[in-house]
Formats: sequence, structure tokens, C-alpha cells
Amino acid sequence: MPQKILIIGNSDGIGAAITRALVAQGDLVVGISRSPSPLGPNGPRHVVQNVAAADYPEIMRRIIVEEGPFDTCIYCAAIGSELKLPDLSQEAHVIEVNFTAMVHTLATLTPGWLEQGRGHFIGLSSLADDFYNADAPSYTASKAGFSNYLISMALKLKTQGVQVTNIRFGFVDTKLPKASWKPLMMTPDQAANHVIRCLQSKPMQLSVPKLAGLVIHSIRWMQSLRVWTS
Ligand SMILES: NC(=O)c1ccc[n+]([C@@H]2O[C@H](COP(=O)([O-])OP(=O)(O)OC[C@H]3O[C@@H](n4cnc5c(N)ncnc54)[C@H](OP(=O)(O)O)[C@@H]3O)[C@@H](O)[C@H]2O)c1
Repeated sequence: MPQKILIIGNSDGIGAAITRALVAQGDLVVGISRSPSPLGPNGPRHVVQNVAAADYPEIMRRIIVEEGPFDTCIYCAAIGSELKLPDLSQEAHVIEVNFTAMVHTLATLTPGWLEQGRGHFIGLSSLADDFYNADAPSYTASKAGFSNYLISMALKLKTQGVQVTNIRFGFVDTKLPKASWKPLMMTPDQAANHVIRCLQSKPMQLSVPKLAGLVIHSIRWMQSLRVWTS
């Protein structure tokens, strides 16, 4: 039975890989991003929209009326910004795209899902949610908020039949990660396969690769020690 899936941030990277895989298996996809669809004009419906724009929640509501109800929404939109002092002009924008717009997205979908007693929201977070990063504080803070919010919402909505999945990836080979060393890096197709498996298993959280999660968690402990003793 084909599913109807809304993918936010699917013109490139992991979102584009998920879109290609879901369309190939016969699911009905609607995408949103600032650039056109990765599958061109003959692909599934694609709405060109900035998720940080003031009219985004209204555009979302319109899409749900026209195309919904959606079985699942996958939130992939994100930007990164290296902090180069004294310019802090992009910091709030990163939080808006990566975190606030995700909260608007879930808030727009949830009332309909509660009425139906079913629905599934998948958010792409990062293993960086467990890390202090002086070079990209807005990105890591946005992902810390993202993961914390989605797990809290998973606990809140679970009893109402609505599932929420927080996926924490390590490095994936897209234009987003800027680090010079990217250990255990996955391809976008490998990352997409993890997301697609979650459509069935609907876990509250998935962290991949596990080893990278462990290493980052250990670094975070050393960072915390430095903060406590400073
Ligand atoms: N790549 C990694 O190493 C990695 C690791 C951990 C987690 N993740 C997470 O995985 C998700 C996907 O990342 P990715 O690597 O695939 O990044 P990507 O290749 O840069 O793709 C990001 C997507 O988000 C869209 N987007 C960005 N700003 C937007 C806006 N204001 N409005 C609407 N769409 C917007 C982009 O489309 P437009 O530019 O056309 O708008 C693009 O389709 C992100 O949440 C990221 O944090 C990635």
C-alpha cells in the first residue's frame, strides 16, 4: 500500500536520496525546499518555499488541505554556518531553519494526526546534538534543541497513536558537513535507507553510526569536565 509522504528539504543531499528511493518504491511524495525538485518537472509535486519565511505555516496548511492527510512527514531541511567573529548575523537564521521551522511543521500536522489517531513524524537530527562546537554553535545548539524537542514530543504523542522518530546521523557525504576529517562517513543513499527502515519500525530514536555516537559522547564528557573546572 503506497504511503503519502511530505518531505521538507528534499532538493539535495539526504532528502533528495529519500525522495528518489520512495518514488522508486511507489510512494506518493510531496516535497518542499527553496530549489526545485531533485526529480525535475516530471517528478512528484514540489513546492518551492523557504521554511524560515513568515508564510511557511500557512503554505503548509494549504498543502495539507490539497494533498493530505499525509501518513508521514520527514523533516530534512537544515543549514550550517561557520562562526567567524565578529559576524553573528546568521546565528538566529540557522536556529530558525533547523529548529523553529521543524516545530512549526510538527504543530501544523499534529492536530489532523490526533483526529485520525495516527501519523508519523521523522526528524533528521545529528550526533552533534551531544557536543559543544565553538566553530558552529548555532548548528549544534539547533540540533540539541531539535533532538530534545522531538523525544519529548514522541513521549507526549505516543499514547495518541502519533509516532515521532528522531534520527541522529554522523557524517553523510553531502554539501553540509564542512569538517576537514569526516570519519565513518555514509553515502546519502545509505542514510536514506536508514530513514526508510524507520517508516516501518518507527523507533523513538536512531543513532548511526553507533561508534561515532560513542566517540562524540566521550568527547562531550571531556568538554563538560573542562566547563565544570573552568
Ligand atoms: N550531511 C551530514 O553529515 C549530516 C550529519 C548529521 C545530520 N545531518 C542532517 O541531515 C539533514 C539533511 O542534511 P543534508 O546533509 O542532506 O544537507 P543538504 O545536502 O545541505 O540538504 C539540505 C536540504 O535542506 C533544504 N533547505 C535548506 N534551507 C532551507 C530553507 N530555508 N527552506 C527550505 N528548505 C531548505 C535544502 O534545499 P534548498 O537549499 O533548495 O532550500 C536541501 O534540500 C539535516 O537536518 C542535517 O542536519 C546531516
